This record gives sequence, structure tokens and C-alpha cells, in this order.
Amino acid sequence: MCGIVGYVGPRPSQDILIAGLARLEYRGYDSAGIAVIDGDGNLGMRKKAGKLAVLRDSLEDAPLGQGTTGIGHTRWATHGGPTDLNAHPHLADDGKLAVIHNGIIENFAPLRDELVAEGVEFLSETDTEVAAALLGREYRSNGGDLQAAFQAVVNRLEGAFTLLAMHQDTPGLVVGARRNSPLVIGLGEGENFLGSDVAAFVEHTRKALAIGQDQIVAITPDAVTVTDFAGTPVEAEPFDVSWDAAAAEKGGWASFMAKEVAEQPEAVANTIRGRVQDGEVVIPELDGLDDLFVGINRVIITACGTASYAALVGKYAIEQWARVATDVELAHEFRYRDPVIGDDTLVISISQSGETMDTLMAVKYARERGARTLSICNTQGATIPRESDAVVYTHAGPEVAVASTKAFSAQITALLLLGLHMGRVRSVLTDTAAVAELASLPEKIASVLEKENDHVTQLANWMADTRSVLFLGRHVGYPIALEGALKLKEISYIHAEGFAAGELKHGPIALIEPGQPVFVIVPSPRHSALIHSKVVSNIQEIRARGARVIVVAEEGDAAVLPFADEVIHIPLAGAMFEPVLAVVPLQIFAMALATAKGLDVDQPRNLAKSVTVE
Ligand code: F6R
Repeated sequence: MCGIVGYVGPRPSQDILIAGLARLEYRGYDSAGIAVIDGDGNLGMRKKAGKLAVLRDSLEDAPLGQGTTGIGHTRWATHGGPTDLNAHPHLADDGKLAVIHNGIIENFAPLRDELVAEGVEFLSETDTEVAAALLGREYRSNGGDLQAAFQAVVNRLEGAFTLLAMHQDTPGLVVGARRNSPLVIGLGEGENFLGSDVAAFVEHTRKALAIGQDQIVAITPDAVTVTDFAGTPVEAEPFDVSWDAAAAEKGGWASFMAKEVAEQPEAVANTIRGRVQDGEVVIPELDGLDDLFVGINRVIITACGTASYAALVGKYAIEQWARVATDVELAHEFRYRDPVIGDDTLVISISQSGETMDTLMAVKYARERGARTLSICNTQGATIPRESDAVVYTHAGPEVAVASTKAFSAQITALLLLGLHMGRVRSVLTDTAAVAELASLPEKIASVLEKENDHVTQLANWMADTRSVLFLGRHVGYPIALEGALKLKEISYIHAEGFAAGELKHGPIALIEPGQPVFVIVPSPRHSALIHSKVVSNIQEIRARGARVIVVAEEGDAAVLPFADEVIHIPLAGAMFEPVLAVVPLQIFAMALATAKGLDVDQPRNLAKSVTVE
């Protein structure tokens, strides 16, 4: 969950590292640090607890110099709290060697004991300093060959790690390695980069190389070499980054989240683009892969957090259109029970980052058990797609705010496309209207943004002192209730819970007292008069107990009006498309309420965007 950047080239590295870290800060923001080797072969290092701004201010007051080789890190604490000492880089070999790390070194305790027994003294509580000390010892004992020492060390580490190192005696060289944690290479002209993701270097180059699991990379200004952990050269996979640096800038918006909420029409349009041909959904990435979908008895969709709520919408769509039993499993639960899966199971994983460790482990587990695997991912070159038999990319563009918004809409859209594609391939699809409706989805999202933004913002301002909000939904409205509650919890720190509306009288209705705000996602009566009438009954039940009812309903749904304190309208849409529209006001509400409370909506406390530890 930490962000990592490395640079070698002709330019002073300090500013390049800080700019790279600014783009990676979403990965962790409790401390940050950089190390730079200058032309005289001196290694300078600065690290600070707090957000990147603290480090940046310190460097403005006292720059590290003109060194053109450097590494930088932004941290989400695992071992040891967020202090200056625990921040990265960690130094060894009398301050001549610097190391940064993302992940968890699981065998750090015995390694630390081994080094302590030799008289090594540690300054921090981190597992990373153990790796640095190990590297320092190896480097000294092999006569100063950084690459050989690095290879020896990574072979001793267990767990998940991306590790970068440089030594002042070898300026112009940064070495890196990855195991179950991300690292990509950026290829420049006379300069090269390393980063946790392409955001680290996209302002300098859009040419990149993806590195596989258990591989080591060495970059100099003119060369990049990649080997496996045994030292055997391997080919890294080239790719072009499809978005430019401007896409990852705030561009005048108050927050990245505000920008990303507003970008949803475009994110959804980009996810659909090129995937509807002659009235049919055809996903080019799945050409020749019909075997993934034919002859299966079961689909399991696995994901975490917001992505798992997209998965729940996907369950309804795949069952309806592709007629195959579909379950949703939280990745961290799926992986640690003994699920009944085999070659008749398709395991679909969903991940914006493509690096979520829980989801990655679930995919690997499914493959080991012989299941077919497909991932839905937003990040090129990420690990989860590389570990899957197939990938359908969402094209939402970079999502920087920690709270996921446009990636969620794009994930649901990709699942709708996939459900329709599977239905066609399995020769069971009858709902041709759904394919036709895809094209109008971006425009309908834009209409919700335009018509409801001010109304919902005002509502949130009125409710800034609220201490608890409940969300209810049925059918595909249920995952949206869960997502509405998660958005509110994570950025405004208000107690919020989402329920299936039918579950209310089995317990949660006890929470209703006069004035309790409850959002209710009401499905269109055009899809099912029965489901609609059940939700209207649920509204009456909570209203009778004094709840303040805020309804999200289709334009023209008069049946809800007598029982609602507030009505938020969404345009008419097919049943499976309503979630993408209904979630928008809930995102706006969470964002406006957090803003009214004076909170940082982009970087909520305790969280990081890419959860690369289990
Ligand atoms: C919530 C949020 C998280 C992520 C979850 C999975 O707003 O962003 O719940 O959805 O951590 O992340 P990815 O999609 O990167 O696997």
C-alpha cells in the first residue's frame, strides 16, 4: 500500500521523485521520504512523518542537492507507527545504501534476530530496515556488487514485497524486485524510472515495461535488465500507457473525488467503447476465449470493498442474461475456507488497482484449484490481470481519490457487458433491449449529475451534524445501499449501514427512532410492480416509526411521494442499469457531507487506495 518511485538519468532527481510521490500519495500518506546520490557519490536522505507536504516543505527549506539517482517512498504503516524513524528510506552500510519497500516481509523476525546476534543495531521497528541491513551485510561480504547482493537478499525474504535499493558507490544504478506487490518500469530517453504504478512517471514517459512476479530489475540511464530471482534474464512485457499526466491532475476541481464523480459519464462511455457491434456485445479481449464461458456450472465473483458491491450487481446481471448460478465472495473469505471449485467454475475477480492482495491471493488460489479465471481491472500492467486467464479492462482512467467512484460505475458497466457477452456466447441471451440501452447510460449519468448535484449537496449541508445514516435497497438496489453506506463511512466518518430492505424487520428496524435519516433506493415499478410495492411498504414501515426518509427513485414514480421527506430523481433505465445511476447521488452526498465537516475527502484517515497487504 506504499508508493514507490525510482529514477536514474541526467536530471536532478529530487523534484522528479517528489512529483512521482505526489501522484502515488493515494497509496499511503502517513509518512514520506527520498534518498538521492549526488555527482560526488554522496547519499543524502530525508524522511518525515505526515503527508508528503511535510517532506516537500522540508526539502524546499534545505534541498538534498543535484543528485541524479534517487528513490522515494510514501508510506502506509504496517510494522511500526507513522514516525520519522519508521518512514522510508532505511539506510545500511554506514548510510551509503538506501532501501525502500512496499509489502510485508513475513520472516523479518528471525532475520532480525540473526542480525542482532551479529551486533546490528536497528533504529526503527520496521521489517524494511531488516532487509536493508541484510543487503548491507551481503554487499560488504561480496566485495561491493549491488546486483548480486540484492539477488541474494530477495531470495531470503518471505512474504510480499517490492524492494528498491541504491548504493552511493554505484551512482546511476537502482535495483528493484517484486513478489506479490507491484512494480513497473518507465522507459525514457537517456533516463529510466521505476514506480508502483505508471502514475509515478507518466509525466515523463508513456512507454512502460511490466515486470512479472519474482523478478529483479536493474535500471541505469541507458539500460534496463530484468532477471528472475535465480538471475536468469527474462523479457519484460512492453505496454503504452493509454492516459496522459493531465488525467491524473485535479484540473481545477476542489478534490480528486469531485473530479472523478464528474468523470463518470466519460468513464462509462470509455468502458463501453468498441464493445458493441451490430447490436451485440462483443468484447475483443475475449476473442477466441468462449471456452471460459461454455460448460461452466457456476460463476464466483470475488473482490473487496466497493468492488465487491459492483460484483453483487454483476451477480444479478450474469444470472439473468447468461443463466448461470453466480455467487459473490469477499476475496479474503473465499481464499481461507475450502470452496468447492474446479474446472467447471469461472472465477471473476474485480479490482480497480489490480494489486489488492486479498483479491490476488483469491485468483491464485482459484487457478491452483483448476478454475477458469477472468479479471475486471482498471490498471494496465497490474498483477491480477497477469495472473488471470483473461482480462476485461475498465477504461475509467486513473482514480486517485481513495474512495472509489468512477471505477465502481465502470466495474458495473464491465460486468453488464460481460453478462451480455456470456449470454450470447452461451446462446441464452434474449434481452436485446439491454444491449441497445448501453449507449444511453453515459448521458443518463450526466443528467443525474446535472439535475441532482445542488439538491443533494444542500441536503448534505443540512445534515452535517447527523451521527448515523441508514441505506436500504432491494434487488440491485441492495448493493447500492451497501455502497452508499461505505462511501459515507470512509470519507465522513459517520456511522452508516446498508441493508437489504426486506431484512429490515428481521432486526435493523429497531434502530429507527424519530429523525433517523434513511436513504431508500427504490427500483422502478416498470421492471417489477411487486418489488416496487415491497419497497414502498418498507418505506411506510420506517416512516411510521419516525424515520426521515430520503428516496432515490425513477422520475415520475408518484407512489413514493406521500411517504418521502426528500426525493432524488434518476432517469428511466433498465433494471440492471439503475445501480449506475442511483449510486451517483449517494457519492455526491458523502462527498458534500465530508466537505461540510471540513474533512479531506481524497485522503481519509487510516485508509490507502491500494491494499497490497493481507
Ligand atoms: C472504497 C474503496 C475500497 C476498494 C477495495 C478494493 O471506496 O475504494 O473498498 O474498492 O479496497 O480495491 P481494488 O478495486 O483496487 O481491488
